[in-house]
Amino acid sequence: MGQTVFIPRELDANEPRVAASPDTVKRLAALGFDVIVETGAGTRSRIPDEEFAKTGAVIGKASDAGKADVVLKVRRPTDAELKGYKSGAAIIAIMDPYGNDAAVAALAKAGVTAFSMEFMPRITRAQSMDVLSSQANLAGYQAVIDGASEYDRALPMMMTAAGTVPAAKIFIMGVGVAGLQAIATARRLGAVVTATDVRPAAKEQVASLGAKFLAVEDEEFKAAETAGGYAKEMSKEYQAKQAALTAEHIAKQDIVITTALIPGRPAPKLVSAAMVASMKPGSVLVDLAVERGGNVEGAVPGQVVTTANNVKIVGHLNVPGRVAASASLLYARNLFAFVETLVDKTTKTLAINRDDDLVKATMLTDGGKIVHPAFAKVAEQPHVEPPAIPAKTMVADAAPKKAAPKKASDKATAGKSAAKPKGIA
Ligand code: NAI
Repeated sequence: MGQTVFIPRELDANEPRVAASPDTVKRLAALGFDVIVETGAGTRSRIPDEEFAKTGAVIGKASDAGKADVVLKVRRPTDAELKGYKSGAAIIAIMDPYGNDAAVAALAKAGVTAFSMEFMPRITRAQSMDVLSSQANLAGYQAVIDGASEYDRALPMMMTAAGTVPAAKIFIMGVGVAGLQAIATARRLGAVVTATDVRPAAKEQVASLGAKFLAVEDEEFKAAETAGGYAKEMSKEYQAKQAALTAEHIAKQDIVITTALIPGRPAPKLVSAAMVASMKPGSVLVDLAVERGGNVEGAVPGQVVTTANNVKIVGHLNVPGRVAASASLLYARNLFAFVETLVDKTTKTLAINRDDDLVKATMLTDGGKIVHPAFAKVAEQPHVEPPAIPAKTMVADAAPKKAAPKKASDKATAGKSAAKPKGIA
């Protein structure tokens, strides 16, 4: 009898995604797993039970989680879900552990081996497992669609017998994975696109997509990119210069899409209430950073706010979930690619190599303990504030220079791992 993979229906009302697709079920079965999918797990991603059954899954119920050696999820399991898992089971999800110390401790207590997919290192081997990229890419696309649907004019220039409709002006702030896709999507829809970022590398990428780059290019800008390719938090002085440059520009825009994040920090405030007030009636802002504190003053998580001057600020939550059917397919493939590395192909059983860089970077808890260096340290010093420094830096900071602090971090790879965790999408 093979080992069992279980795919539950996500309990969070705002989570329509699912952690498997018919394609990955087939691949998991080929790896030697018995696959059980909870009934209804794929419904909100437009995958009916029958589609899963056709590719070899048994359709089961929530309590089947107790049979699983591997549970594939989108969100971190709730306490009630955790109670239903076998001790020693591998649970793979977007664990969102920062600031959630009690939840991390609960994972350890349940005896499960929990993996946080958002900590996957951005190395070539793990590109196919990068959930931040796969989901941010779709979020960038959806932000343009959401902005366009709130905007009550057409995006492309249209020359008709009845006259010309001018092209909409769209400004993208923050050009990582989401911002680049937003530029590409806005261009495809015929908008005139400009973009800004604090990382110099973004300049060329923006140009290559046919958009115009706008930024304060001083000495600080030239040094703003970390070795891992992420942004640093900019100085107050830089932010003031950046605001002065962008304020005038924003006043002339029809749609502004913000995606700016700094790993492990609150999102930078880029658009002030005064800038919003300077925009024309009917203009739209879409704040993709709203779950991390927001880039736009006045953005409300989960709401579309209309300001006094009739500008809309869109603050949808879980934007990849708004294109759930696409997001689930990519997320499922990310998870499968990782699971494949955890399996011994000859014995067709789980064989987690705790020395593997990908395992070291993503494993949060194991054998009843918190093993991730960033969290093991917090657990040992219960009075210490939760980490509020960039995730990437955190490994280096939390990693003791000489020996790892005892117990929980014994299995962790403090200081040695080339694979560092990242911020949370
Ligand atoms: P992110 O989601 O952490 O941040 C989004 C963007 O906001 C970034 O481009 C960042 O520079 C920008 N930002 C931060 N503060 C800002 C400010 N004050 N004003 C304007 N923009 C600001 O970034 P994401 O999407 O994770 O991408 C980070 C980098 O990683 C990019 O260079 C991306 O191309 C790279 N990457 C590399 C991969 C790989 O090597 N396998 C995979 C995916 C991304």
